[in-house]
Amino acid sequence: MPTHVVILAAGKGTRMNSDYPKVLHELGGKPMLEHVVETASSLDNSSVHVVIGQGSDQVVQHFSDKPSLLWVTQEQQLGTGHAVAQAIPGIEISADSIVLVLCGDVPLIKKGTIEELTRNASPTTLALLTLITETPQGLGRIVRDEKDSVIAIVEDKDADNQQRTIKEINSGIMAIPSIKLKEWLAKLENSNSQGEYYLTDVIAMAVKDGCEIYTKTITDEFEVQGVNDKKQLARLERHYQMMKIDQLLAAGVTVLDPARVDIRGDVHCGKDVTVDINVIFEGTVTLGDGVVIGPNVVIKNTVIKNNSTILANSIIEDSEIGSECSVGPFARLRPGTHLDDAVKVGNFVEIKNSNLGKGSKANHFSYIGDADLGEGVNVGAGTIFCNYDGAYKHRSVIGNNVFIGSNSTLVSPVNVAAGAFVAAGSTINSDVQENELAIGRGKQRNISGWKRPTKNKD
Ligand code: UD1
Ligand code: CA
Repeated sequence: MPTHVVILAAGKGTRMNSDYPKVLHELGGKPMLEHVVETASSLDNSSVHVVIGQGSDQVVQHFSDKPSLLWVTQEQQLGTGHAVAQAIPGIEISADSIVLVLCGDVPLIKKGTIEELTRNASPTTLALLTLITETPQGLGRIVRDEKDSVIAIVEDKDADNQQRTIKEINSGIMAIPSIKLKEWLAKLENSNSQGEYYLTDVIAMAVKDGCEIYTKTITDEFEVQGVNDKKQLARLERHYQMMKIDQLLAAGVTVLDPARVDIRGDVHCGKDVTVDINVIFEGTVTLGDGVVIGPNVVIKNTVIKNNSTILANSIIEDSEIGSECSVGPFARLRPGTHLDDAVKVGNFVEIKNSNLGKGSKANHFSYIGDADLGEGVNVGAGTIFCNYDGAYKHRSVIGNNVFIGSNSTLVSPVNVAAGAFVAAGSTINSDVQENELAIGRGKQRNISGWKRPTKNKD
Protein backbone atom coordinates (compact mmCIF):
# COMPACT_ATOMS: atom_id res chain seq x y z
CA MET A 1 0.00 0.00 0.00
CA PRO A 2 1.40 3.47 -0.86
CA THR A 3 2.41 5.10 2.41
CA HIS A 4 2.75 8.87 2.78
CA VAL A 5 4.62 9.86 5.90
CA VAL A 6 3.78 13.10 7.73
CA ILE A 7 6.20 14.15 10.46
CA LEU A 8 4.83 16.75 12.88
CA ALA A 9 7.51 19.23 13.83
CA ALA A 10 5.92 22.65 13.97
CA GLY A 11 5.32 22.90 17.71
CA LYS A 12 6.74 25.82 19.67
CA GLY A 13 8.63 23.72 22.16
CA THR A 14 8.00 26.40 24.78
CA ARG A 15 9.07 24.11 27.61
CA MET A 16 12.57 23.72 26.13
CA ASN A 17 13.23 27.37 27.11
CA SER A 18 15.42 27.80 24.07
CA ASP A 19 15.83 30.07 21.04
CA TYR A 20 16.27 27.02 18.79
CA PRO A 21 13.40 25.02 17.30
CA LYS A 22 12.64 22.05 19.55
CA VAL A 23 13.18 19.38 16.91
CA LEU A 24 16.75 20.60 16.27
CA HIS A 25 17.82 19.81 19.82
CA GLU A 26 20.20 16.89 19.65
CA LEU A 27 20.03 13.33 20.87
CA GLY A 28 23.25 11.37 20.44
CA GLY A 29 24.76 14.32 18.58
CA LYS A 30 21.98 14.46 16.00
CA PRO A 31 18.80 16.60 15.94
CA MET A 32 15.73 14.71 17.18
CA LEU A 33 14.01 15.35 13.86
CA GLU A 34 16.93 13.78 11.98
CA HIS A 35 16.42 10.53 13.89
CA VAL A 36 12.77 10.51 12.80
CA VAL A 37 13.55 11.56 9.22
CA GLU A 38 16.11 8.77 8.90
CA THR A 39 13.69 6.17 10.22
CA ALA A 40 10.93 7.48 7.93
CA SER A 41 13.25 7.46 4.93
CA SER A 42 14.26 3.86 5.63
CA LEU A 43 10.62 2.75 5.30
CA ASP A 44 9.00 1.68 2.05
CA ASN A 45 7.29 5.04 1.53
CA SER A 46 5.84 7.09 -1.31
CA SER A 47 6.65 10.50 0.17
CA VAL A 48 7.86 12.13 3.38
CA HIS A 49 6.26 15.45 4.42
CA VAL A 50 7.55 17.45 7.36
CA VAL A 51 5.27 20.03 8.95
CA ILE A 52 7.31 22.92 10.32
CA GLY A 53 6.53 26.27 11.87
CA GLN A 54 8.74 27.74 14.56
CA GLY A 55 12.26 28.33 13.25
CA SER A 56 11.38 26.69 9.95
CA ASP A 57 14.31 28.31 8.07
CA GLN A 58 16.80 26.75 10.45
CA VAL A 59 15.12 23.36 10.16
CA VAL A 60 15.06 23.39 6.33
CA GLN A 61 18.67 24.59 6.29
CA HIS A 62 19.77 21.66 8.44
CA PHE A 63 18.28 19.17 6.00
CA SER A 64 19.55 20.84 2.82
CA ASP A 65 21.28 17.58 1.87
CA LYS A 66 17.95 15.71 1.77
CA PRO A 67 16.14 17.16 -1.26
CA SER A 68 13.46 14.47 -1.29
CA LEU A 69 11.85 15.80 1.91
CA LEU A 70 8.65 17.76 1.29
CA TRP A 71 8.35 20.77 3.58
CA VAL A 72 4.96 22.01 4.72
CA THR A 73 4.60 25.22 6.69
CA GLN A 74 2.05 25.52 9.44
CA GLU A 75 1.93 29.27 10.05
CA GLN A 76 0.06 29.05 13.33
CA GLN A 77 0.29 26.08 15.68
CA LEU A 78 -3.39 25.32 16.03
CA GLY A 79 -2.99 21.68 17.01
CA THR A 80 -1.84 18.30 15.71
CA GLY A 81 -4.96 17.81 13.55
CA HIS A 82 -4.48 21.24 11.99
CA ALA A 83 -0.81 20.35 11.39
CA VAL A 84 -1.66 17.14 9.48
CA ALA A 85 -4.33 19.05 7.52
CA GLN A 86 -1.61 21.41 6.17
CA ALA A 87 0.11 18.43 4.56
CA ILE A 88 -3.01 17.01 2.91
CA PRO A 89 -2.96 19.21 -0.26
CA GLY A 90 0.52 17.86 -1.08
CA ILE A 91 -0.46 14.20 -0.63
CA GLU A 92 -1.77 11.98 -3.41
CA ILE A 93 -5.03 10.90 -1.81
CA SER A 94 -6.18 7.54 -3.15
CA ALA A 95 -8.45 4.66 -2.20
CA ASP A 96 -5.55 2.41 -1.24
CA SER A 97 -3.00 4.82 0.24
CA ILE A 98 -2.41 5.49 3.91
CA VAL A 99 -0.94 8.39 5.84
CA LEU A 100 1.53 7.53 8.57
CA VAL A 101 1.83 10.24 11.23
CA LEU A 102 5.11 10.46 13.16
CA CYS A 103 6.23 13.09 15.67
CA GLY A 104 9.44 15.05 15.30
CA ASP A 105 9.86 15.03 19.07
CA VAL A 106 9.60 11.22 19.43
CA PRO A 107 13.07 10.31 18.17
CA LEU A 108 13.55 6.69 19.19
CA ILE A 109 10.63 5.09 17.40
CA LYS A 110 11.83 1.88 15.72
CA LYS A 111 11.42 0.96 12.08
CA GLY A 112 10.09 -2.52 12.93
CA THR A 113 7.35 -1.11 15.15
CA ILE A 114 6.21 1.30 12.45
CA GLU A 115 6.23 -1.43 9.81
CA GLU A 116 4.01 -3.61 11.95
CA LEU A 117 1.65 -0.68 12.32
CA THR A 118 1.48 0.18 8.61
CA ARG A 119 1.07 -3.51 7.65
CA ASN A 120 -2.11 -3.54 9.69
CA ALA A 121 -3.57 -0.33 8.27
CA SER A 122 -5.92 -0.58 5.31
CA PRO A 123 -8.59 1.46 3.51
CA THR A 124 -10.95 0.30 6.28
CA THR A 125 -8.56 0.08 9.24
CA LEU A 126 -6.83 2.82 11.22
CA ALA A 127 -3.73 1.53 13.03
CA LEU A 128 -2.76 3.17 16.31
CA LEU A 129 0.40 2.74 18.38
CA THR A 130 -0.28 2.78 22.11
CA LEU A 131 1.78 2.35 25.26
CA ILE A 132 0.98 0.90 28.65
CA THR A 133 2.62 3.06 31.29
CA GLU A 134 2.54 3.69 35.02
CA THR A 135 3.05 7.41 34.31
CA PRO A 136 0.32 8.41 31.85
CA GLN A 137 0.17 12.00 33.17
CA GLY A 138 0.00 14.64 30.46
CA LEU A 139 -0.69 12.16 27.66
CA GLY A 140 -3.75 11.27 25.61
CA ARG A 141 -5.65 8.28 27.13
CA ILE A 142 -7.01 5.42 25.04
CA VAL A 143 -10.67 4.94 25.89
CA ARG A 144 -12.04 1.42 25.27
CA ASP A 145 -15.59 0.08 25.55
CA GLU A 146 -16.74 -3.02 27.47
CA LYS A 147 -15.68 -5.20 24.50
CA ASP A 148 -12.22 -3.68 24.75
CA SER A 149 -12.58 -1.87 21.44
CA VAL A 150 -11.04 1.59 21.17
CA ILE A 151 -13.72 4.25 21.00
CA ALA A 152 -11.79 7.49 21.49
CA ILE A 153 -8.65 9.25 22.64
CA VAL A 154 -9.11 11.80 25.40
CA GLU A 155 -6.39 14.35 26.02
CA ASP A 156 -5.13 14.63 29.60
CA LYS A 157 -6.41 18.20 29.93
CA ASP A 158 -9.90 17.14 28.78
CA ALA A 159 -10.11 13.85 30.68
CA ASP A 160 -12.36 13.24 33.69
CA ASN A 161 -11.03 11.64 36.87
CA GLN A 162 -12.00 8.16 35.79
CA GLN A 163 -10.33 8.56 32.37
CA ARG A 164 -7.19 9.88 34.03
CA THR A 165 -6.68 6.49 35.69
CA ILE A 166 -6.30 4.81 32.26
CA LYS A 167 -2.77 3.55 31.78
CA GLU A 168 -2.92 3.00 28.05
CA ILE A 169 -1.81 6.16 26.23
CA ASN A 170 -1.54 7.48 22.69
CA SER A 171 1.99 7.48 21.32
CA GLY A 172 0.96 10.07 18.75
CA ILE A 173 1.92 7.64 15.97
CA MET A 174 -0.82 6.29 13.71
CA ALA A 175 -1.46 5.03 10.17
CA ILE A 176 -4.71 6.27 8.64
CA PRO A 177 -6.52 5.56 5.33
CA SER A 178 -5.89 8.75 3.33
CA ILE A 179 -9.37 9.36 1.87
CA LYS A 180 -10.98 9.00 5.27
CA LEU A 181 -8.34 11.14 6.97
CA LYS A 182 -9.03 14.01 4.60
CA GLU A 183 -12.77 13.82 5.38
CA TRP A 184 -12.26 13.60 9.13
CA LEU A 185 -9.72 16.45 9.32
CA ALA A 186 -12.19 18.75 7.56
CA LYS A 187 -14.68 18.05 10.33
CA LEU A 188 -12.37 18.68 13.33
CA GLU A 189 -13.41 21.25 15.88
CA ASN A 190 -11.39 23.04 18.53
CA SER A 191 -13.97 23.07 21.30
CA ASN A 192 -11.66 21.56 23.92
CA SER A 193 -9.71 22.83 26.89
CA GLN A 194 -6.72 23.86 24.77
CA GLY A 195 -8.73 25.36 21.90
CA GLU A 196 -6.76 23.19 19.45
CA TYR A 197 -7.64 20.97 16.49
CA TYR A 198 -6.62 17.58 17.87
CA LEU A 199 -5.57 14.80 15.51
CA THR A 200 -6.68 12.43 18.24
CA ASP A 201 -10.31 13.36 17.62
CA VAL A 202 -10.25 11.39 14.33
CA ILE A 203 -10.39 8.18 16.38
CA ALA A 204 -13.96 8.77 17.55
CA MET A 205 -14.89 9.82 13.99
CA ALA A 206 -13.41 6.62 12.60
CA VAL A 207 -15.38 4.53 15.09
CA LYS A 208 -18.54 6.40 14.09
CA ASP A 209 -17.80 5.71 10.39
CA GLY A 210 -17.43 1.97 11.07
CA CYS A 211 -13.68 2.09 10.41
CA GLU A 212 -11.84 -0.59 12.34
CA ILE A 213 -9.22 0.50 14.90
CA TYR A 214 -6.19 -1.78 15.11
CA THR A 215 -3.90 -1.13 18.07
CA LYS A 216 -0.33 -2.16 18.53
CA THR A 217 0.58 -1.80 22.18
CA ILE A 218 4.16 -1.61 23.39
CA THR A 219 5.67 -1.36 26.87
CA ASP A 220 9.05 0.22 26.07
CA GLU A 221 8.39 3.78 27.21
CA PHE A 222 11.59 5.11 25.69
CA GLU A 223 10.62 4.08 22.19
CA VAL A 224 7.69 6.50 22.17
CA GLN A 225 8.98 8.99 24.72
CA GLY A 226 8.16 12.48 23.50
CA VAL A 227 10.59 15.23 24.43
CA ASN A 228 8.96 18.41 25.70
CA ASP A 229 11.67 19.75 28.00
CA LYS A 230 15.39 19.46 28.75
CA LYS A 231 14.81 17.01 31.58
CA GLN A 232 13.11 14.54 29.23
CA LEU A 233 15.82 15.13 26.64
CA ALA A 234 18.60 14.44 29.16
CA ARG A 235 16.91 11.23 30.36
CA LEU A 236 16.36 10.02 26.82
CA GLU A 237 20.00 10.82 25.99
CA ARG A 238 21.20 8.58 28.84
CA HIS A 239 18.91 5.80 27.65
CA TYR A 240 20.10 6.21 24.05
CA GLN A 241 23.74 6.09 25.20
CA MET A 242 23.13 2.85 27.11
CA MET A 243 21.59 1.35 23.96
CA LYS A 244 24.65 2.35 21.90
CA ILE A 245 27.13 1.09 24.53
CA ASP A 246 25.20 -2.18 24.84
CA GLN A 247 25.79 -2.76 21.12
CA LEU A 248 29.55 -2.32 21.65
CA LEU A 249 29.53 -4.66 24.65
CA ALA A 250 27.59 -7.25 22.65
CA ALA A 251 30.25 -7.01 19.94
CA GLY A 252 32.93 -7.84 22.54
CA VAL A 253 34.36 -4.40 23.25
CA THR A 254 35.71 -3.87 26.77
CA VAL A 255 34.15 -0.66 28.06
CA LEU A 256 35.60 0.10 31.48
CA ASP A 257 32.60 2.16 32.57
CA PRO A 258 29.58 2.11 30.25
CA ALA A 259 28.21 5.20 32.02
CA ARG A 260 31.24 7.26 31.08
CA VAL A 261 31.43 6.82 27.31
CA ASP A 262 29.31 8.79 24.84
CA ILE A 263 28.66 7.78 21.25
CA ARG A 264 27.40 10.68 19.14
CA GLY A 265 27.32 8.81 15.87
CA ASP A 266 28.46 5.28 15.05
CA VAL A 267 31.40 3.22 16.24
CA HIS A 268 32.53 0.07 14.43
CA CYS A 269 34.94 -2.11 16.38
CA GLY A 270 37.12 -5.13 15.66
CA LYS A 271 37.99 -7.76 18.24
CA ASP A 272 39.44 -7.00 21.68
CA VAL A 273 39.06 -3.25 21.62
CA THR A 274 39.31 -1.50 25.00
CA VAL A 275 37.74 1.85 25.80
CA ASP A 276 38.67 3.65 29.02
CA ILE A 277 36.54 6.26 30.81
CA ASN A 278 35.35 9.69 29.62
CA VAL A 279 35.70 8.89 25.96
CA ILE A 280 33.55 10.66 23.35
CA PHE A 281 33.07 9.24 19.87
CA GLU A 282 31.54 11.50 17.22
CA GLY A 283 30.50 10.88 13.64
CA THR A 284 31.75 7.60 12.19
CA VAL A 285 34.64 5.98 14.03
CA THR A 286 36.21 2.66 13.05
CA LEU A 287 38.55 0.86 15.45
CA GLY A 288 40.54 -2.19 14.34
CA ASP A 289 41.40 -5.28 16.39
CA GLY A 290 43.20 -4.68 19.66
CA VAL A 291 42.86 -0.90 19.60
CA VAL A 292 43.12 0.68 23.05
CA ILE A 293 41.54 4.07 23.75
CA GLY A 294 42.79 5.74 26.92
CA PRO A 295 40.84 8.02 29.25
CA ASN A 296 39.52 11.49 28.29
CA VAL A 297 39.88 10.99 24.58
CA VAL A 298 37.67 12.58 21.89
CA ILE A 299 37.62 10.89 18.48
CA LYS A 300 35.60 12.14 15.51
CA ASN A 301 35.24 10.66 11.99
CA THR A 302 38.42 8.63 12.18
CA VAL A 303 39.74 5.18 11.25
CA ILE A 304 42.26 3.57 13.61
CA LYS A 305 43.82 0.30 12.46
CA ASN A 306 44.83 -2.80 14.43
CA ASN A 307 46.72 -2.66 17.71
CA SER A 308 47.13 1.09 17.86
CA THR A 309 46.91 2.88 21.17
CA ILE A 310 45.52 6.31 21.88
CA LEU A 311 46.79 7.60 25.20
CA ALA A 312 44.97 9.87 27.64
CA ASN A 313 43.63 13.31 26.78
CA SER A 314 44.09 13.16 23.02
CA ILE A 315 41.74 14.79 20.51
CA ILE A 316 41.49 13.30 17.03
CA GLU A 317 39.35 14.49 14.13
CA ASP A 318 38.95 13.44 10.47
CA SER A 319 42.15 11.40 10.57
CA GLU A 320 43.48 7.99 9.58
CA ILE A 321 45.79 6.11 11.88
CA GLY A 322 47.62 2.98 10.73
CA SER A 323 48.27 -0.13 12.76
CA GLU A 324 50.69 -0.40 15.69
CA CYS A 325 50.70 3.38 16.21
CA SER A 326 50.90 5.20 19.51
CA VAL A 327 49.29 8.62 19.87
CA GLY A 328 49.31 10.85 22.96
CA PRO A 329 49.01 11.54 25.80
CA PHE A 330 47.77 15.07 25.03
CA ALA A 331 48.07 14.81 21.26
CA ARG A 332 45.85 16.69 18.84
CA LEU A 333 45.30 15.26 15.38
CA ARG A 334 43.33 17.72 13.27
CA PRO A 335 41.55 17.04 9.97
CA GLY A 336 43.62 15.48 7.21
CA THR A 337 46.14 13.71 9.43
CA HIS A 338 47.30 10.37 7.98
CA LEU A 339 49.63 8.25 10.05
CA ASP A 340 51.09 5.17 8.38
CA ASP A 341 51.81 2.05 10.45
CA ALA A 342 54.01 2.18 13.57
CA VAL A 343 54.02 5.96 13.82
CA LYS A 344 54.56 7.55 17.24
CA VAL A 345 53.03 10.86 18.17
CA GLY A 346 53.78 11.98 21.69
CA ASN A 347 52.64 14.64 24.12
CA PHE A 348 51.66 18.16 23.04
CA VAL A 349 52.05 17.40 19.36
CA GLU A 350 49.56 18.96 16.95
CA ILE A 351 49.27 17.62 13.41
CA LYS A 352 47.07 18.98 10.60
CA ASN A 353 46.64 18.03 6.96
CA SER A 354 49.85 16.02 6.96
CA ASN A 355 51.11 12.53 6.16
CA LEU A 356 53.60 10.72 8.36
CA GLY A 357 55.24 7.67 6.78
CA LYS A 358 55.82 4.32 8.39
CA GLY A 359 57.73 4.34 11.65
CA SER A 360 58.10 8.13 11.83
CA LYS A 361 58.12 9.80 15.23
CA ALA A 362 57.18 13.17 16.66
CA ASN A 363 57.44 12.56 20.35
CA HIS A 364 57.32 15.95 22.05
CA PHE A 365 55.90 19.48 21.64
CA SER A 366 55.60 19.98 17.89
CA TYR A 367 53.38 21.46 15.23
CA ILE A 368 53.26 19.63 11.92
CA GLY A 369 50.94 21.37 9.47
CA ASP A 370 50.61 20.85 5.69
CA ALA A 371 53.58 18.50 5.39
CA ASP A 372 54.45 15.13 3.85
CA LEU A 373 56.91 13.16 5.92
CA GLY A 374 58.45 9.97 4.56
CA GLU A 375 59.27 6.81 6.50
CA GLY A 376 61.45 6.72 9.60
CA VAL A 377 61.55 10.48 10.04
CA ASN A 378 62.46 11.76 13.49
CA VAL A 379 60.88 15.07 14.40
CA GLY A 380 62.75 16.46 17.39
CA ALA A 381 61.12 18.12 20.38
CA GLY A 382 59.76 21.58 19.72
CA THR A 383 59.85 21.38 15.91
CA ILE A 384 57.49 23.78 14.18
CA PHE A 385 56.39 23.68 10.56
CA CYS A 386 55.78 27.35 9.71
CA ASN A 387 53.08 26.63 7.12
CA TYR A 388 51.37 30.01 7.12
CA ASP A 389 52.96 33.22 5.83
CA GLY A 390 50.11 35.41 7.02
CA ALA A 391 48.28 35.16 3.70
CA TYR A 392 48.80 31.67 2.26
CA LYS A 393 49.43 28.13 3.48
CA HIS A 394 52.42 26.25 2.04
CA ARG A 395 53.45 22.58 2.06
CA SER A 396 56.77 21.06 2.98
CA VAL A 397 58.16 17.65 2.06
CA ILE A 398 60.51 15.67 4.30
CA GLY A 399 62.19 12.56 2.83
CA ASN A 400 62.74 9.14 4.37
CA ASN A 401 64.92 8.87 7.46
CA VAL A 402 65.40 12.61 7.86
CA PHE A 403 66.42 13.68 11.36
CA ILE A 404 65.12 17.06 12.47
CA GLY A 405 66.93 18.33 15.54
CA SER A 406 65.01 19.80 18.45
CA ASN A 407 63.60 23.32 18.36
CA SER A 408 63.88 23.67 14.58
CA THR A 409 61.57 25.71 12.44
CA LEU A 410 60.84 24.67 8.86
CA VAL A 411 59.64 27.67 6.89
CA SER A 412 57.32 26.24 4.26
CA PRO A 413 57.52 25.55 1.42
CA VAL A 414 60.78 23.68 1.92
CA ASN A 415 62.05 20.21 0.92
CA VAL A 416 64.40 18.23 3.07
CA ALA A 417 65.57 15.22 1.05
CA ALA A 418 66.05 11.68 2.32
CA GLY A 419 68.71 11.03 4.93
CA ALA A 420 69.34 14.72 5.63
CA PHE A 421 70.08 15.93 9.16
CA VAL A 422 68.85 19.24 10.51
CA ALA A 423 70.87 20.55 13.41
CA ALA A 424 68.99 21.47 16.58
CA GLY A 425 67.73 25.03 16.76
CA SER A 426 67.86 25.58 12.99
CA THR A 427 65.57 27.74 10.92
CA ILE A 428 65.33 25.99 7.56
CA ASN A 429 64.04 28.09 4.69
CA SER A 430 65.89 26.64 1.72
CA ASP A 431 65.92 23.07 0.46
CA VAL A 432 68.32 20.49 1.90
CA GLN A 433 69.72 17.80 -0.41
CA GLU A 434 70.04 14.08 0.38
CA ASN A 435 72.24 13.19 3.32
CA GLU A 436 73.35 16.80 3.89
CA LEU A 437 73.71 18.35 7.33
CA ALA A 438 71.81 21.63 7.51
CA ILE A 439 72.69 24.11 10.24
CA GLY A 440 70.63 27.25 10.20
CA ARG A 441 71.44 29.17 13.36
CA GLY A 442 73.73 31.93 14.68
CA LYS A 443 77.16 30.72 15.65
CA GLN A 444 77.81 30.43 19.39
CA ARG A 445 80.35 32.87 20.86
CA ASN A 446 81.73 32.48 24.39
CA ILE A 447 82.91 35.81 25.88
CA SER A 448 85.29 35.58 28.81
CA GLY A 449 85.44 38.25 31.52
CA TRP A 450 81.75 39.06 31.04
CA LYS A 451 80.20 40.91 33.99
CA ARG A 452 76.59 40.43 34.89
CA PRO A 453 74.53 43.62 35.30
CA THR A 454 74.19 44.69 38.94
CA LYS A 455 71.73 47.01 40.71
CA ASN A 456 72.90 50.52 41.59
CA LYS A 457 73.04 50.74 45.43
CA ASP A 458 72.37 54.54 45.73
C1 UD1 B 1 0.27 14.54 21.66
C2 UD1 B 1 -1.10 13.84 21.54
C3 UD1 B 1 -1.29 12.93 22.75
C4 UD1 B 1 -0.14 11.95 22.86
C5 UD1 B 1 1.21 12.68 22.85
C6 UD1 B 1 2.34 11.68 22.75
C7 UD1 B 1 -2.66 15.27 20.36
C8 UD1 B 1 -3.76 16.26 20.50
N1 UD1 B 1 -2.13 14.82 21.49
O1 UD1 B 1 0.25 15.36 22.79
O2 UD1 B 1 -2.50 12.23 22.63
O3 UD1 B 1 -0.26 11.19 24.03
O4 UD1 B 1 1.30 13.57 21.72
O5 UD1 B 1 3.59 12.29 22.83
O6 UD1 B 1 -2.33 14.91 19.26
N2 UD1 B 1 2.69 19.91 16.49
C9 UD1 B 1 2.60 20.62 15.31
N3 UD1 B 1 1.68 21.60 15.19
C10 UD1 B 1 0.83 21.92 16.18
C11 UD1 B 1 0.90 21.20 17.39
C12 UD1 B 1 1.84 20.19 17.51
O7 UD1 B 1 3.36 20.36 14.38
O8 UD1 B 1 0.01 22.83 15.97
C13 UD1 B 1 3.68 18.83 16.61
C14 UD1 B 1 4.68 19.08 17.70
O9 UD1 B 1 5.82 19.76 17.17
C15 UD1 B 1 5.04 17.68 18.14
C16 UD1 B 1 3.77 16.89 17.88
O10 UD1 B 1 3.02 17.65 16.97
O11 UD1 B 1 6.08 17.13 17.36
C17 UD1 B 1 2.97 16.65 19.16
O12 UD1 B 1 2.57 17.90 19.68
P1 UD1 B 1 2.64 18.21 21.23
O13 UD1 B 1 2.17 19.59 21.46
O14 UD1 B 1 3.95 17.84 21.78
O15 UD1 B 1 1.50 17.21 21.72
P2 UD1 B 1 1.37 16.51 23.12
O16 UD1 B 1 0.77 17.44 24.09
O17 UD1 B 1 2.65 15.88 23.48
CA1 CA C 1 4.88 15.99 22.75
